[in-house]
Order: sequence, then structure tokens, then C-alpha cells
Amino acid sequence: MKKQLEIEAPAKINLTLKVLGKRADGYHELESIMQQISLRDKIILERGGQAIKIKSNSHMIPEDEENLAYKAAQLLYTKFSIKEGLRIYIEKNIPIGAGLAGGSTDAAAVMIGINDLHNLGLGKNELMEIGLNIGSDVPFCIMGGIALAKGRGEVLTALNKGLQLEMLLVKPDYQLSTGAVYREFKRERVNQSPDNKAFIEAWLKYDIIGLTQHMQNDLETVSIKMCPDIKIIKNKLNALGAIKSLMSGSGPSVIGVFASYEEAREAWERIKGQYKETYLISSYN
Ligand code: C5P
Repeated sequence: MKKQLEIEAPAKINLTLKVLGKRADGYHELESIMQQISLRDKIILERGGQAIKIKSNSHMIPEDEENLAYKAAQLLYTKFSIKEGLRIYIEKNIPIGAGLAGGSTDAAAVMIGINDLHNLGLGKNELMEIGLNIGSDVPFCIMGGIALAKGRGEVLTALNKGLQLEMLLVKPDYQLSTGAVYREFKRERVNQSPDNKAFIEAWLKYDIIGLTQHMQNDLETVSIKMCPDIKIIKNKLNALGAIKSLMSGSGPSVIGVFASYEEAREAWERIKGQYKETYLISSYN
């Protein structure tokens, strides 16, 4: 059995996010196009010791059982009665509280890693099912690529690999709680909701103009009320030549889609002095 393992944990953006309504279990029914991006954490797992221990280069994430990566490890260790301890090192590169599924992707990577380290023999679907107990975005983070997500986010249909999107991501100096954003959401206040069918048609045709026209996020209005910087950044990205700018997930990260890497880079040169957290990213398959 291997002793140590290194796994990449890519962030997620929502190219569309339609929130259909609140369900009996308190979650909202979604329809969203989720895409992994090149911005990623690195997870190192090492078997040994008596307990599950977390360390990170970031002081912004908990190093105890509050961390989703810890919860994911503990869930598998209990389920499979694993007695040996585990050291988890998280090299954090994804901004926190940003709407990029940073905690979920670390949890997903830990589950994939433990499955390998301990030869648990779990298939992707089984891992995704267990991962849903940790968070709504964990199943997608396990599956990866680009997918249409329904249900809480766990009913996933993979899309064929399409255009490589070149983007600039800007995170305002503010964190938003996903739960708080959803609590404020009112379906009747949404005036322009995404058409996922039209997005997918454009995606399959490699039609960048068509697909960006269908990039919408129902949570944007709510999150902009809590963090007006989102709107300011959207306007700046548009002025810098983005074909489309959109908030990701529950925010406050904003992505701008550009026609080429060079254009994204030029915009980045102009905006990076204004915001601490700016990243040149592309879709990751
Ligand atoms: O599943 P996760 O713990 O990541 O979700 C965080 C919060 O976001 C939930 O407690 C819920 O308030 C909200 N949420 C939702 N509907 C979803 C996903 C998340 O209401 N489909």
C-alpha cells in the first residue's frame, strides 16, 4: 500500500446558476453548469500516527474537525473502520468564502486519495454519493470537468469537452456565506434567469458568443446587495473587454470571459493593482 499521495484540487465556477425553489429539506433545487478551473489547491496525504491531523499554509482555514477535508476523511475512516491515522496537508491557493467550492474540492480530493491509499475500491459514483454528505458541491468536485448539475447539485450530466475558456477571476475583499445568500434569495425577484438548454447548444457548437449570452446567475442580485463591489468589478471587467462577466456560485468572486488568453492577460495587468486577489484562469478538464 502507498504511504503518501499528492492530489490536485481544482476550484469550481458556475457558468450558469438557476435557482428553482426551496425544497422540503431546506436546500434549493438548482440547475447549473459547473466547470472546473485551473486555479487549484494541492493536497498531500500521508498515512501514519493515531489520528486525523490537518495542516495548511493558510491561516484562513480551520485545522480541526470544522474543515470539510477533515469531515470527509473522518466519514471514510468511520465507514471503513480504518484505525491508522492520517496527515492532511492543504496547500491553499483558492480564495476562501469566494463561491469557488474551495472547501468542497479539498474534501473531494481527500476522499479520492483515501480511496487510493487504502485500496477501498470505491467507484466514482459511490464516492460522489458519500461526498454529498459533506456538501452539495462535493459530488461535482469528484466528477470534475464540466457538467449540468440538478437537484442540490449532485444530479450530474457530464458535457463533452468544448472550448477552453480564458478568464480573469477577481475576488472582492469580502467573504460571503452560501447559506446566508440562499436565505435571502426570492425566486420572484429574478428577472433574467439562465436558459441551460440554449447554453448547452452553444457549448456543443463551440459558439463562444452564444454561450456567454446564456451565462446568468440567479443569486447575483442578492449577493450584490450584500457586497456592492461585485457590481463594480463586473462593470470594470466589461470595460476591460470581457465578452461576459458573471459572479460565480453565491459569490463574491466574479469571472470575466475573454476572447483569448492575451486579452485576459492585458485586462489582468490593468486590474491587478486594484484588487489583492486576481487570477488568470482557464477551464480545466
Ligand atoms: O451543501 P452545502 O453545505 O455546501 O450548502 C451550504 C448552504 O447553502 C446550505 O446550508 C443551504 O443553506 C445552501 N444551499 C441551498 N441549496 C443548495 C445548495 C446549498 O440552499 N442546492
